[in-house]
Amino acid sequence: TRSIKIAPSILSADFANFGAEIRAIEDQGADWVHVDVMDGHFVPNLTFGPPAVKAFRPHVTTVMDVHLMIAPVDPYIEAYAEAGADVLTAHIEAGPHPHRTLQAIRAAGMKAGIALNPGTPAESVEHLLDLTDLICVMTVNPGFGGQKFIDMTAKIARLREMIGDRDVLIEIDGGVDPTTAPLAVDAGADVLVAGSAVFKGGSVDCPDVYGANMRAI
Ligand code: DX5
Ligand code: ZN
Repeated sequence: TRSIKIAPSILSADFANFGAEIRAIEDQGADWVHVDVMDGHFVPNLTFGPPAVKAFRPHVTTVMDVHLMIAPVDPYIEAYAEAGADVLTAHIEAGPHPHRTLQAIRAAGMKAGIALNPGTPAESVEHLLDLTDLICVMTVNPGFGGQKFIDMTAKIARLREMIGDRDVLIEIDGGVDPTTAPLAVDAGADVLVAGSAVFKGGSVDCPDVYGANMRAI
């Protein structure tokens, strides 16, 4: 049996209180902490870069899962390694050489992830599977939290088949809540990223909200 991991996205946290927010979600049982890096170019929103990610690091006692929604990726890989990312995920749509990018991420000592936008087929990663530790299936168009889940169950099932007995996790990201999560888990997802469903109505003053929402997922 697979163990399912919950990876709350701090994109929905209080941006003035990241340390406390990270502690609150870990206290409530987060398995990983998901960090959404956006560049205002690959996606139409801008969040934070390597210095901020480095500042999160001492607060994360689990796994820091960094999702790069940036292009280009390669010039920044070393900076995210130095910032302390455990998993570094790049989009396959971010450039023409995802194979080189995945090699470079592993060479920098991190687990290498590849993310697929909703319009990108499972087959796009067919020749990358031996270089990949995690495939992030986007279930929204990346850029913002709080969007509606796009059903990618067929893609997840196809990836699961393609992965075979390789040690590659499938992560889903976007619109994950107690209703949509089981669909993706049944199709073969291992890691559930959730922003608004975990932080909904939440603040560091009422950490119960995190726990209730996470347990529901
Ligand atoms: C979307 C980000 C997600 C986002 C998910 O561009 O990659 O990680 O925070 O947020 P929700 O769970 O609110 O859809
Ligand atoms: Zn993400």
